[in-house]
Amino acid sequence: SGQRFPHAGTRRPLIGDLGVSDPRNPVLSILEWGPRLGPIFEMQIFRQKFVFVASAELTAELCDENRFCKALPPAITALRQYAGDGLFTARNDEPNWQLAHELLIPAFTKSAIRSYHPTMIATASELFDYWDRRGGDNDVTRDMTKLTLETLTRTAFSQDFGSFSSAQPHPFIGAMIRALETGRRKGGLATAPGGRFLMRYLDRRNAEHQEYVDSLLDEVIASRAGDPNRDDLLGIMLNVAHPETGEQLSMLNIRYQILTFLVAGHETTSGALSFTLYYLSQNPECLARAQAEADEILGADPTAMPEFEQVPKFRYIRRCLDEALRIWPTVPAFARSPREDTVIGGDHRMRTQDWAIVLLGLVHRDPQVWTDPDVYDPDRFLSANIKKRPAHTYQPFGTGVRSCIGRQFALHEAVLVLASLLHRYDLHADPDYQLAVDERLTMVPKNFYLSLSERRVTA
Ligand code: HEM
Repeated sequence: SGQRFPHAGTRRPLIGDLGVSDPRNPVLSILEWGPRLGPIFEMQIFRQKFVFVASAELTAELCDENRFCKALPPAITALRQYAGDGLFTARNDEPNWQLAHELLIPAFTKSAIRSYHPTMIATASELFDYWDRRGGDNDVTRDMTKLTLETLTRTAFSQDFGSFSSAQPHPFIGAMIRALETGRRKGGLATAPGGRFLMRYLDRRNAEHQEYVDSLLDEVIASRAGDPNRDDLLGIMLNVAHPETGEQLSMLNIRYQILTFLVAGHETTSGALSFTLYYLSQNPECLARAQAEADEILGADPTAMPEFEQVPKFRYIRRCLDEALRIWPTVPAFARSPREDTVIGGDHRMRTQDWAIVLLGLVHRDPQVWTDPDVYDPDRFLSANIKKRPAHTYQPFGTGVRSCIGRQFALHEAVLVLASLLHRYDLHADPDYQLAVDERLTMVPKNFYLSLSERRVTA
C-alpha cells in the first residue's frame, strides 16, 4: 500500500519498526536516527505506516495550500475523544471548524491582544513577586507553565486558576497530560494485536483523570452561564452568533474548544519561553544584547513593565525567541495530505489517503538551508537573513488556514515576559546543566533551573 521509503533498523513481523522507537519519547528518538535516512523516510508500527519529511525542500512542497492540506495522523485522531471537532482536531471539512474559526478570529486581532495586554502584564508581575518571595532555584519550565496557563485562563475565560498560590502546578495540568497521553498511546495501539483490549484497559485506568478534566470544563462553563459579556474567548463562544448565518457553537463544541485552548494555548508558549531562557543562560553575549535592548526601551527602573506599543520594539529579544523555536520547535510536527494524488520531490508518490509528518526539529536544522544548524544565533532572524532563505524553511506555527490561531497572542506574551524578566533579573544557571528535553504534549526543557538576582540598571 503506497510507496516504500527508507526505514531504520530491522523490520520485524507484527511489530514492524517498533524496536527503533522509544514509546515514551517517540519524537526525540526519531530526531536522533531520522537524519541518517534522508529527506523522507518511514516507520511502521504494527500495521500503521508513518511517513516523515525532514528536508526544507520537501516541506516547502507540503506547505503549498493548493496541493496539500492539514492531515490528522493517528495521534491527533486519538485526541478527538477529548477535543472532538474543536479547532485543532477538526477535519478540514467539518462545519464546526469554519464556524469556530470565523467566530474566534476577532479574539486574536491586534485590538483583542491590546485588550489582553494589562492581564498579561499583571500575570507576569505575579510571577516575579512569586519568585521574589520564594528565592533560590526555580524550575523554569514549571514556573513558565504556571505563567502561561494563568495568562490563558484569565484572558480567554476570565478565570483565575490560582497558579501562584501553590508550589505545585494546577492539578488540571497533571490530569490533562495523563488523559491526553492515554489518547496518544491509544493512537499507537489501533492496529496492534490485542489493541482493542489494551485500549479499553487504558480507558479504565484513565477514567479518573477524564472525570476530573470534564468536571473542570463544566465549572468553567457554569461560571459564565447567563453572563452576556462577549469580550473574552468564552464570552464570544457563549454569546456571539455568526453575523451572516446566525449560527452559534453548541455546548458540546464549546467544551471541546475550551479544552483545545487550555491545551494548545499554554504549554507551547511555556516551552518557547523556557528554551529561550536556557539558550540565553548559555550564551552570555546574546544575553547581554537582550538585556541592553530591554534597558534601552524600559529605562532605569528594573521593575518597569512594557506598554502595549513597546512590545514590538524588542526586536533582538524577538529574534532570541525565534531562534529558540528554530532549534526546539515546541510543537514538534504537523501532518499534510495531498488534495489530489501527486508526487513530491520528483519521485515520491502520495495518494489522497496518504499523509506525511513534517518533523520541524529536522527541517529547522536542515544543513542545506542552515549553516551550523546546532549553533544558537538569533541574528539568523535579521530580516536581511530571512530574505536569503527559501520560503517555508521555518514553520513553528504550522502553515496555511490550519496554522496557529494563537500565534500573535503567543508572540506578544512571550516577548513581553522575556523583556521584563531580562530587565529585572540576572540569570544564574547551573554551569553543569546539560539540556534535557521532556516530551510531553509538547517539547519542554527538563530539570532546567535558574536562580535570579535583582539587576541594577545603569541607563
Ligand atoms: C495550531 C504551534 C501557541 C491555539 C497550531 C499549529 C502549530 C502551533 C504548529 C498547527 C498544527 C497542525 O497543523 O496540525 C504553536 C506554538 C505556540 C502556539 C509553537 C507557542 C509558541 C498557541 C496559543 C494558542 C494556540 C497561545 C491559543 C491562545 C492554537 C489552535 C490551533 C493551533 C486553536 C488550531 C488551529 C486550527 O486548526 O484552526 N499551533 N501554537 N496556539 N494553535 Fe498554536
